[in-house]
Amino acid sequence: MRRSRRLGVGFIGTGFIARFHIRSWIGVRDADILGLYSPDTEGAVSAAALVRECRVGDATLYGSITEMIEDPAIDCLWICSPNHVRVENMEEIVLALKSGKGELVGVACEKPLGRNVAEAKRVVELVEEAGILHGYLEDQLFSPSLEKGRNLVWKRGAALSGRPYLARAAEEHSGPHSSWFWQGEMQGGGVLNDMMCHSVEVARFLLTEPGAPRNSITPVKVSAQIASLKWSRPEYVDVLRQTYGPEVDYANKPSEDFARATIEYRDADGRPLIAETTTSWSFVGAGLRLSSELLGPEYSLQLNSLDAGGTVFFSRRVTGKAGEDLVEKQNAEQGVMPFVGNEASEYGYEGENRFFIRCFLDGVQPWEDFHAGLEVTELLMTAYMSAEQERTIAWKPEGLENYLPKVAQGTWRP
Ligand SMILES: NC(=O)c1ccc[n+]([C@@H]2O[C@H](COP(=O)([O-])OP(=O)(O)OC[C@H]3O[C@@H](n4cnc5c(N)ncnc54)[C@H](O)[C@@H]3O)[C@@H](O)[C@H]2O)c1
Repeated sequence: MRRSRRLGVGFIGTGFIARFHIRSWIGVRDADILGLYSPDTEGAVSAAALVRECRVGDATLYGSITEMIEDPAIDCLWICSPNHVRVENMEEIVLALKSGKGELVGVACEKPLGRNVAEAKRVVELVEEAGILHGYLEDQLFSPSLEKGRNLVWKRGAALSGRPYLARAAEEHSGPHSSWFWQGEMQGGGVLNDMMCHSVEVARFLLTEPGAPRNSITPVKVSAQIASLKWSRPEYVDVLRQTYGPEVDYANKPSEDFARATIEYRDADGRPLIAETTTSWSFVGAGLRLSSELLGPEYSLQLNSLDAGGTVFFSRRVTGKAGEDLVEKQNAEQGVMPFVGNEASEYGYEGENRFFIRCFLDGVQPWEDFHAGLEVTELLMTAYMSAEQERTIAWKPEGLENYLPKVAQGTWRP
């Protein structure tokens, strides 16, 4: 394996999440952003300007993923493209490597690993075929407050009074920013697929003893519910159509904007553990709200991203432009408003990128890997099955590999 003292990183996709990663790179050592590929040239040019402005590299724009791999300056790739091109992007990477066009140390992939279990399995197969290191980009595990809170609870509370038994995790905002997220077939589902991937992994992480392997707790059963509470109301069907065009048609092809799931686990001693997750695209508050809790016999932990910074107050005479300068998915500009000091750090992007770069530089397989991404997808698909059948499903259900949620098929009628 090639080793160098600094890594050159290339991004596939230069949209919303790539820009978050670029801003986070200010807190990452030993790697520079040296390449960008996106079919949207204007977006790529603007992302390259952001790379320069943040002084986190000097990025060349490539005409394809293969061209980016051909450049020896690029050592690893960050996949930040939409869900429906995950498999085709991975196929191109593996073909380029296998045909000797270039070399890579590793690849890191945004959530979800695939739109369904079959796709996520294919992505795992492909990376193993290529024989390179792989990381699953679940930023929230690297949120400084979550990491510190988890360590404190396990070190003090759990050590003296017993392991935690109940974790709660929620992610809520008022709806995604690009048209493809709203389309079940392209995205793989609605808010359950889009955001519960985070909550499922956060709850599992909180319930797992620091340093213990992923399989030290095992799923037993899953019960879930989905609903379309807001966006299939006629007035909001119109809002979506006006904003994104006729392809986002919530009168005929809605996706769920609310989902909750309860996952029961067992620890190594057979004791029950519960993860309660809830997500929505129908939360209208100040902006994105990530919240989690961990409860044990003599202690509890609580986190809420909207309490992570300060507040400002703007009177009714302050009528500025709408923006997201206070917080992601901001909904208002007046009154008492919370802001988060450094969102790229608080949501975990800085920490995750530092972690994956360090692993790739040291030639070590990251513990948060594509297998973790596959297991999250398996849990999410089991949750869809439970919601469709309105019953609790024992883990691991038959037929998971070929299962496609009705929302992803465009046949869900809430
Ligand atoms: N970790 C998180 O909290 C988080 C947040 C948002 C998005 N995401 C994930 O990141 C990924 C990208 O989401 P986004 O919000 O940046 O979307 P986006 O729509 O803002 O940007 C997508 C980018 O991919 C590019 N693209 C389109 N087709 C492509 C192709 N065939 N090959 C390569 N690039 C292509 C687009 O031109 C654009 O630059 C998704 O998988 C999404 O689920 C994760």
